[in-house]
Amino acid sequence: MEKMTMENMVSYSKQYGFIFQGSEIYGGLANTWDYGPLGSRLKNNIKDAWRKRFIQERNNAYELDADILMHPRVWEASGHVDSFADPLTDCRHCKTRHRADNLVNDYTNSSIGDKMSNEELINYIRENNIPCPKCGKCDFTDIRQFKLMFETYRGVTKDNKSVVYLRPENAQGEYVNFLNVQRSMRAKLPFSIGQIGKAFRNEITPGNFTFRTIEFEQMEYQTFCKEGNDQEQYEYFKEYGKKFYMDLGLPAEKLRFHDHEKLAFYAKAACDIEYLFPFGWGEINGTHNRTNYDLTRHQEYSGESMMYLDPVTNEKYIPYIVESTYGLDRTVLAVLFESYQKETLADGTEREVMKFIPYLAPYKAAVFPLIKKNHAEKATTIYNELSKYFMTTYDETGNIGKRYRRQDAIGTPFCITIDDETINNNTVTIRNRDTMEQITLPLDEVKDYILKRIQF
Ligand code: GAP
Repeated sequence: MEKMTMENMVSYSKQYGFIFQGSEIYGGLANTWDYGPLGSRLKNNIKDAWRKRFIQERNNAYELDADILMHPRVWEASGHVDSFADPLTDCRHCKTRHRADNLVNDYTNSSIGDKMSNEELINYIRENNIPCPKCGKCDFTDIRQFKLMFETYRGVTKDNKSVVYLRPENAQGEYVNFLNVQRSMRAKLPFSIGQIGKAFRNEITPGNFTFRTIEFEQMEYQTFCKEGNDQEQYEYFKEYGKKFYMDLGLPAEKLRFHDHEKLAFYAKAACDIEYLFPFGWGEINGTHNRTNYDLTRHQEYSGESMMYLDPVTNEKYIPYIVESTYGLDRTVLAVLFESYQKETLADGTEREVMKFIPYLAPYKAAVFPLIKKNHAEKATTIYNELSKYFMTTYDETGNIGKRYRRQDAIGTPFCITIDDETINNNTVTIRNRDTMEQITLPLDEVKDYILKRIQF
């Protein structure tokens, strides 16, 4: 069984319609990627799985769909305007740009760079002669803070007053709507607001395919609770997050917690869930105990009360927030890597197969007429019926073996062959992607047979 390199995954994703380079015909725009027909299905299935676990199956959890553009004061209150920036340095020799903290971390194979000031970083780089990853020289400029928020302007004039930002995280939409949701839903603490949506960061460092992009999607979950209940919620969501990833098919041994040593000054605890990508461990989720910092800041900056009135005790207080954020694009990437397998079969031939859990598979079933001339009409009727219930594809070209291979390569869990038996006896053959076993089933049982096996 062979696994895949990052480079091969980029071409596999393109070949089978999962992910394409953004603006490819113009030479591409760095760190942008477009999801193709199968990639967008996979991504939507992951969103649906998240919605199911985080909204549908949790009492007192509500979904929100806030605007990307928010009042600029939001980003002053959140601290992003002042401090959401990377420490960058340029190599004078080859003109490439690097994050100074990454240079130190990679050189020392640690995270000591995270704790250093800009001056400490550049001194450390120069004293230790840390080489440029591109050209090997150590000739770096002083460090500049490079702002990560994308700015745009609204109105006719391009002055400071009309600046608006593309949101760099979803969370603030949930914070500023905390009381709207609480009151309209008559929610009692602890309750959660979840949101799936785009975020934008002007990342300049190389991306590892879709791992680090400038436009990406987050599935964010904010749990509002009373002080004192916060650490319990924090521990709960760390584990709940790991379990969610395991339910998506990522094995425990390729997931780990990375507890943060360096915390934001307001945070009480922070932890990432990391997945073992081909390039090493990479963060796919972040869970933070943010205390009552965010709501306190919004109260201060907006002048509006962010107090919760406890209906039982009549206490008034600003809730604590435990945040758990799932990077959607990184989850798609982890699922792609985890699902891919190259197998040598008993007869010595090889097959490439995407072993998605059935719920995530872009197509749940493929319908094949054995012989186009004789069976296409019946197969089309069956395709039309099944596609009302789940994503189904139809293929009438090439021999059956080749058609199976094509569906294996895109991860379709069930292939249904229509032949003379279907015409005469109303039975079909269903072939299982993983075991490659075939069974015969009465036609009227097919829909339920598949529906039962694609649940999450
Ligand atoms: N509201 C909290 C927040 O945004 P974060 O750790 O900055 O926290 C959360 O981001 C998650 O978003 C990360 O764990 C990662 O999965 C994803 N993410 C962050 N930056 C990204 C980028 N440039 N490209 C793709 N995904 C990214």
